[in-house]
Amino acid sequence: MRVAVYGANGFQGKLTTAMLMQNGIQAVLVGRNQERLTAAAGELEMSAVELRVAEATDRRALLRAFEGCGAVINCAGPFTRRAEPIVSAAIAAGYHYVDTAGEQGFVKSVFDNFSGEAQKAGVTVLPSATDGAVPGDLVAHMIARRAGQIDSIIVAHKIVGGGGPSKGSLRSVVETCGDIAAGGLTYEDGAWRNGEPLDRSTIAFLGDEEVAISKFPLIEAVTIPRHVWVRRVVGVIETSIATRLSVPFSEQMIEAVSNPSPDVRKDQTFLIVLEATSTDGGVLRGTVEGTDAYGTTAAIAVECTRRLVEGQARSGVLAASQAFEPVEFLDRLAAYNVRWRIEEKTRKAFMP
Ligand SMILES: NC(=O)c1ccc[n+]([C@@H]2O[C@H](COP(=O)([O-])OP(=O)(O)OC[C@H]3O[C@@H](n4cnc5c(N)ncnc54)[C@H](OP(=O)(O)O)[C@@H]3O)[C@@H](O)[C@H]2O)c1
Repeated sequence: MRVAVYGANGFQGKLTTAMLMQNGIQAVLVGRNQERLTAAAGELEMSAVELRVAEATDRRALLRAFEGCGAVINCAGPFTRRAEPIVSAAIAAGYHYVDTAGEQGFVKSVFDNFSGEAQKAGVTVLPSATDGAVPGDLVAHMIARRAGQIDSIIVAHKIVGGGGPSKGSLRSVVETCGDIAAGGLTYEDGAWRNGEPLDRSTIAFLGDEEVAISKFPLIEAVTIPRHVWVRRVVGVIETSIATRLSVPFSEQMIEAVSNPSPDVRKDQTFLIVLEATSTDGGVLRGTVEGTDAYGTTAAIAVECTRRLVEGQARSGVLAASQAFEPVEFLDRLAAYNVRWRIEEKTRKAFMP
């Protein structure tokens, strides 16, 4: 199996390439700069690896670069306004496409703009194969199997420790600061809407301590309604993090940031909490806990890609739960320290 990694010399690109190698999959390193690709191959101690240069805007070069690969993993963020030519080239060449985007507007546009093309080409496109979006989407599907008729789902993300975001993540925050300031899309009554207010102000992540939350453009608000019959889905993060991310980061500030090292990443915990309220008022709570968000993203992107190349999913642009069997996939992630559970929760009075 051969897989092209676009943006292979970036922080997430290198982690993803290393994870492909760890899984015995041959990686082809693709990017816009030969020297930076060569340096990345050196860092990864890949002496006989194939490097292919292609600008993200050069369709013919992209088609050449992807030739002979069963799939493309795109790690070149920010994705907004830049990654669509890469999605389009992968589909046109007949290859599955996976990416590590955390940008809600971009992911929504991939579903909106490429579903028909992907189906016609017989390939699967799975945007946002990340630590947050994939487990969150899969657990939501499992909750729906248990809950019967669901009225609403709130999805909350929290990260503890781990050295903070990478330079690339910060650039994605800058690129999407408008969406972040507005809180992103809420799915409500059959459509995705901007500007819907939150109907609660806190959530408990672990234990009973309620933490202040703010609306945030999480990917699950885009993916869950594609396979769960639900009236409302909204994403939130801790207010303290939302406040930190709303500071306008200059390129100088981003350049001064260090990408998180393996040592600090292993001490990081990420948490995803999903609370689903059924139409009869019962609340089911799903929790995902993991370590090392960037390492887990590499594992998830590779796991999704391997399964697509093996033909496990139908064609089209798909959410993780539409592509794979949720329990089997979630249990596979235990090998990467990801744990999940679903429990019944007594309904609390929501704050106004
Ligand atoms: N949970 C999540 O949401 C999640 C988790 C992990 C990663 N991510 C996302 O993954 C992305 C990558 O992060 P990172 O830390 O790896 O960033 P990074 O280290 O800055 O790497 C970015 C890569 O993209 C390439 N690139 C950037 N702009 C390009 C352009 N216009 N044309 C062609 N190539 C371009 C860069 O190539 P050059 O070196 O040539 O500039 C580099 O290879 C970010 O968007 C991040 O938010 C999201």
